[in-house]
Amino acid sequence: MGPIGVFDSGYGGLTVLRELVNTLPQYDYLYLGDNARAPYGTRSFETVYQYTLECVRFLFDKGCHLVILACNTASAKALRNIQQLDLPQLAPDRRVLGVIRPTTEVMGEFTQNNHIGIFATAGTVASESYLVEMEKFFPAVKVHQVACPMWVPLIENSEANSNGADYFVQKYVEQLLQQDPQIDAVLLGCTHYPLLISKIRQFLPAHIRIITQGEIVAQSLVDYLHRHPEIEVHCAKNAQRTFYTTDATDTFDRQSAVFFGETVL
Ligand code: DGL
Repeated sequence: MGPIGVFDSGYGGLTVLRELVNTLPQYDYLYLGDNARAPYGTRSFETVYQYTLECVRFLFDKGCHLVILACNTASAKALRNIQQLDLPQLAPDRRVLGVIRPTTEVMGEFTQNNHIGIFATAGTVASESYLVEMEKFFPAVKVHQVACPMWVPLIENSEANSNGADYFVQKYVEQLLQQDPQIDAVLLGCTHYPLLISKIRQFLPAHIRIITQGEIVAQSLVDYLHRHPEIEVHCAKNAQRTFYTTDATDTFDRQSAVFFGETVL
């Protein structure tokens, strides 16, 4: 028995963990933020894969049988390799899941007119993972994406609500609407972006729905654990939460109060 591992390059995954804990409070969770090497969004495929694999190994060493990559960039660039190449030899009885698949399984339900936009990191956009998955689940939906490389640094540096953030929020919103003015739903395709939601709301036309991933991933985990009792049986249920960071813990403690909604130890 071990905790469910939740991984992100930094703090963003805490917005997902918050929903996992709300929905499935009985389980133990172990969060790992690779803050020392964040952001991942502008790094190469090879680098994101190598960093993510190291973090997954760490979570396995800590007893996790199930690991969720609560990071779109890692899900886009590392998940498939880890599942297909590494898991069979590293830990054939353990599982690593991402956030892109569960999101695309339901994303088409948020649009009335089949025009959806995605804000994501440069890495996620370039991978085209969302386009490929949406084609499978909702082929009729037109999807446009914009890379927002300045958003994660703004959020990680506690500038999400500052006047300085306005420029880059407005800029990327305009870029998306120029690509497709008919968009009526927008996915925040990076787990950091919910921290910027009030600014995004401010610049996005009021009729456009904003989709965040926390609840979607939580519902998908409920379903997964139900369908996979052989994995569920290894998930400890003492309602314990443990947090690890690859960087300074004092900064992590301060920032996690914002991302997770409560102080962590
Ligand atoms: N939070 C991560 C994501 O969902 C990536 C942020 C980053 O490290 O660039 O893509």
